[in-house]
Amino acid sequence: MEKLHAIITGVGGYVPDYILTNEELSRMVDTTDEWIMTRIGVKERRILNEEGLGTSYMARKAVRQLLEKTDTDPLTVDAVICSTSTADYHFPSTASIVLGRLGMTNAHAFEMSAACSGWLYAMDTAACMIESGRYKKIVVIGADKMSSAVDYTDRQTCPIFGDGAAAVLVEPTTEDLGWKDSYLRTDGQGLPFLVMQAGGSVAPPSYFTMEHRMHYVHQEGRTVFKFAVTNMSDATALIAERNGLNKDNITWIVPHQANIRIIEAVAKRLEMPMEKVMVNIQKYGNTSAGTLPLALWDYEKQLHKGDNLIFTTFGAGFTWGAAYMKWGYDPK
Ligand code: UT7
Repeated sequence: MEKLHAIITGVGGYVPDYILTNEELSRMVDTTDEWIMTRIGVKERRILNEEGLGTSYMARKAVRQLLEKTDTDPLTVDAVICSTSTADYHFPSTASIVLGRLGMTNAHAFEMSAACSGWLYAMDTAACMIESGRYKKIVVIGADKMSSAVDYTDRQTCPIFGDGAAAVLVEPTTEDLGWKDSYLRTDGQGLPFLVMQAGGSVAPPSYFTMEHRMHYVHQEGRTVFKFAVTNMSDATALIAERNGLNKDNITWIVPHQANIRIIEAVAKRLEMPMEKVMVNIQKYGNTSAGTLPLALWDYEKQLHKGDNLIFTTFGAGFTWGAAYMKWGYDPK
């Protein structure tokens, strides 16, 4: 039997309508547009501010668009993997809610959480499932409603994050395309530096956890920044080197959108001009698991069959990595 490769055959996305600008944020906390643009690179972010709507709402919109764009019958989908840190509920999974709402009843669905790195981990898993020959169509979602986890009195974290979702369809091909290689790593020593301290089984919700504002993103920014720059750059360089890739034959770097200075450092390490780096942090901020598929969604029309893409990511855990993919289709 010919070897099966996993290719992305379509991208769907969704960002909420409400735009939270730096001007509005600077009326909420002691900050300025100038500080945020220089230190982070976010101009505005989208916020899902309608009561009662969670991550599955955005994921559903993204997947519905994906199924329409790829003309996919929901009944032909074999599996749905959702990467998120802001699930609708502890259980059931957000993936199962999306599956149910969109009638993908011949599939099984599950969450894959690795914070901001979740979508890349999920893609690598989906690629292995496709390569096994047992799965023909897998929907891989990256979605986060970070506004549900951000403390809008904390100026160190609130400018960074935003809400959004995107999803890709992963299918088999025998052509020499698709998921080629990955290097994924985790270091559990990252726990104290990037964590939501309460709401889980260690510290279930209580008056104490509420009073001490423990249900929000806690981040020690400088430490996270250093680890992110080093690990994303090293992982990207390693994937490039072992696949014979360099600034001349890499078409796009697709980096996690956490800070424009981190993105620029990764590009510099590979001597890649910024025109070949996908950047949408200025519009959406850090949507955690959403950033990589949202970048594909934004840049889809500029992608061509055979393009060499290197993804790279970093998130809580710490989790990080890079992956090499040959893009599977021309603009439609
Ligand atoms: O997606 C998961 C991975 N996350 C990341 O990759 C995030 C990594 N970290 C970062 O992106 C950056 O560390 C931050 C954007 C979080 C912070 O930027 P920084 O350049 O590391 O700033 P800092 O924390 O070192 O603070 C510098 C100064 C401080 O003032 P002093 O102590 O020097 O007087 C802060 O109090 O900037 C101050 N500051 C602010 N000033 C205006 C911190 N936040 C703000 C703010 N507006 N929003």
